[in-house]
Amino acid sequence: MIQTNFDLKPFNTFGISANANRFAAFSSIEELQTILQQRKQQESLLILGGGSNLLLTKDFDGLVLKNEIHGFRFVSETDEWAIVESGAGEVWHEFVMRCIDLNLSGMENLSLIPGSVGASPMQNIGAYGVEIKDCFESLTAYHIESGELHTFDNASCAFGYRESVFKHEYKGQYVICTVSFRLKKNAIVNTSYGAISAELAKNGISNPSIRDVSNAVIAIRQSKLPDPKQIGNAGSFFKNPIVRIEVLSEIQTKHPEVPHYPVDANHCKLAAGWLIEQAGWKGKTIDTFGVHKLQALVLVNYGGSTGSQIYELSSQIIADVASKFGVSLEREVNIL
Ligand code: FAD
Ligand code: EPU
Repeated sequence: MIQTNFDLKPFNTFGISANANRFAAFSSIEELQTILQQRKQQESLLILGGGSNLLLTKDFDGLVLKNEIHGFRFVSETDEWAIVESGAGEVWHEFVMRCIDLNLSGMENLSLIPGSVGASPMQNIGAYGVEIKDCFESLTAYHIESGELHTFDNASCAFGYRESVFKHEYKGQYVICTVSFRLKKNAIVNTSYGAISAELAKNGISNPSIRDVSNAVIAIRQSKLPDPKQIGNAGSFFKNPIVRIEVLSEIQTKHPEVPHYPVDANHCKLAAGWLIEQAGWKGKTIDTFGVHKLQALVLVNYGGSTGSQIYELSSQIIADVASKFGVSLEREVNIL
């Protein structure tokens, strides 16, 4: 059923009030097709998962399609690995927990990331040393124009840091319906990210299981990222910028301690949160919105703010960091 003049506030983790002209949920490809038959000519579409990577800066003059395709199944398995497929509308964290319950390893470092399974390939979600591309097998996606179901393997998704083909070449063309992952039965845990090993050591765990790693990740995340149920936010608002080594050297002349991570011989990644904090924005509050006090990369809505106020704040931060450090920050969150 298509609803009209629909408030999206409960459907985005920023908790921004914005009306969609029309809104419908679908739980199968057939339902999706039926709704699309009622699409008006030239009507804009927004495919919505958990709304945890969106900033609504105005009302949406179009049709919002909320993905509620559920399901979980084993596609194939050997003694070493299993390929599991999830419906795109499943909640990401619940899917990860289910895999951990089945003792399948690969995604435990991605515990507690909000949102749906279907959105996970959009920006190749990542945290604590792992990205989905590390265990992604394939996805099926409905091609809106032709009505065909296409399969994408790992290479054809062109995954990068917070990037995939669905944000660029195929932007707006597909509805991701199922996603499959190749997971290991004999766990090889990844505790390379300093904060994980520190959390495990704090708890006296020297030979961690995948559940131990998941619990450590959950504890770290809860200690610094605001829970959207309490404070509106969409996680990191900006990407960590990749810059030339000369830019790093210039910053190091004044700030030898600047955190940085190698990318290749000529480039490194800087921590946007550090740059924003050094520029003096951390914890800054303007009326009902601002920069989170524990994580400067996260912009927050304390309630009642508009998306354009938060967008304007992000523009001020971009300009300030550019003038103070000569680094341009790019927004990670999808702006509508
Ligand atoms: P939505 O916000 O609903 O949609 C995001 C984009 O994907 C939109 O462009 C939408 O149109 C498109 N889309 C969604 N579903 C589909 C589909 N089925 N088919 C086609 N297009 C689709 N991200 C990380 O990578 N790492 C983190 O550690 C992380 N931490 C976070 C912490 C917090 C507190 C929050 C609020 C967010 C965090 N995020 C993180 C961002 C966010 O959780 C992810 O980007 C997540 O994958 C978004 O899922 P979603 O279902 O909410 O997507
Ligand atoms: N830092 C500061 N001040 C801050 C925040 C961070 O100085 O306010 C410094 C930290 O001290 C550390 C460095 O920046 O030296 C990196 O911080 P952290 O480990 O917290 O990670 P991040 O770079 O801020 C990224 C991802 C997160 C992901 C974590 C863990 C991006 C844009 N963000 O954050 O992803 O969960 O690493 O892997 O890559 C998201 O995408 O929404 C997200 C939350």
